[in-house]
Amino acid sequence: MTAETLPATDAAPASLSLRLREGTRPEHEQAETTGFVEKLMGGELDVAAYTDLAAQQYAIYGALEQASAQIRDDAQGATLVFDELTRTPSIEKDLAFLVGSDWATEIRILPATEAYVARLLEVGTSLSAYAAHAYTRYLGDLSGGQIIKRMMERHYGLGPDGLAFYTFDEIPKAKPFKDVYRERLDSLDLTDEQIAETVEEAKLAFRLNSALFAELGAIHC
Ligand code: HEM
Repeated sequence: MTAETLPATDAAPASLSLRLREGTRPEHEQAETTGFVEKLMGGELDVAAYTDLAAQQYAIYGALEQASAQIRDDAQGATLVFDELTRTPSIEKDLAFLVGSDWATEIRILPATEAYVARLLEVGTSLSAYAAHAYTRYLGDLSGGQIIKRMMERHYGLGPDGLAFYTFDEIPKAKPFKDVYRERLDSLDLTDEQIAETVEEAKLAFRLNSALFAELGAIHC
């Protein structure tokens, strides 16, 4: 289904999960095809490039998961917070392996990451913005993230030690989990205006990721 074929206004309105998927399709395609992502996935870069991405993700998930901790105090927000998705401890493990025990003082955070983090800290505790950012990252990690994991194993010889971020020990099958996550999104009691805001924020979340890939590309490609 394309954006043009979404139900017309007199039909049942499209669910939030469908609106998110359709609404961010062009941004997804753009993020997926940036030079950095294509070269990293194609084996043309090196472990240093992957490590730099992991360092940026450390800052991003720190801010996202800080928002998760706050939003779970809200009855609706709590329905979107799953402990099994938490990524910060996994990224810490990866960085300790990839950089060494002094990783926290060795990594540097890029301006595009700072901008992404600032946005998360600014809006992340609003229900619609949280839904948008959590959807963009976690459903992405459970989808394309699994392809990235296989490519990192294949091209750069990484194993479980450097790839904990992409390994969801408590989610043995991504598909049923993603279905539950979409049901939770669709059960949120949001106004039309909030639904539109959520889709707009998810598009922004994708653009923030693309801007980060552009910066990583300028360094590593
Ligand atoms: C290497 C780059 C990427 C590849 C190969 C890729 C691939 C995919 C694939 C195959 C799916 C569909 C999975 C399914 O049907 O369940 C998907 C879904 C998704 N991806 Fe990506 N992706 C990439 C990058 C990204 C990035 C950078 C983001 C955002 C930060 C992202 C966010 C998402 C989201 C949110 C979904 C769920 C769509 C939905 O069903 O609503 N992806 N991706």
